[in-house]
Amino acid sequence: MDESTRRAYLEAMGVTVWVPRGSRGTDADTEETARAASSVPPATEPSPGTSTGPTSLPEDDAAAVTSFERSAATSDVASMDGETLRRTILGCTACGLCETRTQAVPGVGSLTADLLVIGEAPGQEEDRRGEPFVGRAGQLLDRMLAAIGLDRQTVYITNVLKCRPPNNRDPRADEVQACAAYLRRQIELIDPKVILSVGRISAQSLLETDETIGRLRERWHRFGPNGAPLRVTYHPAYLLRSPGQKRKSWGDLKAVRALLAD
Ligand code: URA
Repeated sequence: MDESTRRAYLEAMGVTVWVPRGSRGTDADTEETARAASSVPPATEPSPGTSTGPTSLPEDDAAAVTSFERSAATSDVASMDGETLRRTILGCTACGLCETRTQAVPGVGSLTADLLVIGEAPGQEEDRRGEPFVGRAGQLLDRMLAAIGLDRQTVYITNVLKCRPPNNRDPRADEVQACAAYLRRQIELIDPKVILSVGRISAQSLLETDETIGRLRERWHRFGPNGAPLRVTYHPAYLLRSPGQKRKSWGDLKAVRALLAD
C-alpha cells in the first residue's frame, strides 16, 4: 500500500498520522502486519492445530465447540428465517434483561454480509434506538469499517447480548447463555467469511476464555457453526479512551480486510 492510501485509512479511523519520529512504528512493521494478514490460509483449508499464530487458522475440531455451538441445537430458533428470528428476539423474555430494556436490539446490516461484527451488548443509546453501535463508540466503529471500505449496510453488526444490561454492567454468564441461540442462528443465516469480535467481553464470551484481549488479538480463531475465522480487536469505546491503541486496531482491521479479499 502506498503512503497516501495508508494515511487516508488511518485518518478515516481518527488515527493521528503525524507521530514524532522516535516513537513511530516503522513502515516495516506496517508491511509485516499486512504480509502476515494476507498469508492467512483460506477458511476452507484450515491449517493443522488448534492454537494459532498470526498467520494460521485453528483446526475446526470438536475442541473448538463452545456453548454457543451447543446451544439451541434443538430449539425452534435453529430453523428460523431472518425475519422470524428478528421478531423472536424483539419479543424475547428468556432472561431478566427483558424487564429493564426499552427494546431488544437484534442487529443491523445485510444477512448476506461477508463480515459479521459482534460487540458486547446494547448501551443506553442503542437500547433507546433499537440499533447496535449508534453512540459515540458506534460512530468510531463506522469510521473503522470505512477504513477498510465497508459500512453498516454491507456488513452485519450485532452483539453477544441483544438487550442492555442495567447501568451498562457486564453481561452475566446466564444472560450470555440465554442469548447464545440467537447469535448462533444469526451466524448460520449470514454464514460470514470473517467475524470481527470487538472488545474483551465479546471475545471472552465467544471464545469462552479468560485470556486478556492483548493475548487474543493478532491471531485467528474459529467460531460458529461453520467455524468462521474470527479476529479480535479493541472495543471502539476503549479506543475513544485510549486513542494510542488505534494503531493496533488498524492492524487488526488490515488482517480482516486481507482475509475478506482472499
Ligand atoms: N457497545 C457494544 O458492545 N455494543 C453496542 O451495540 C454499543 C456499544
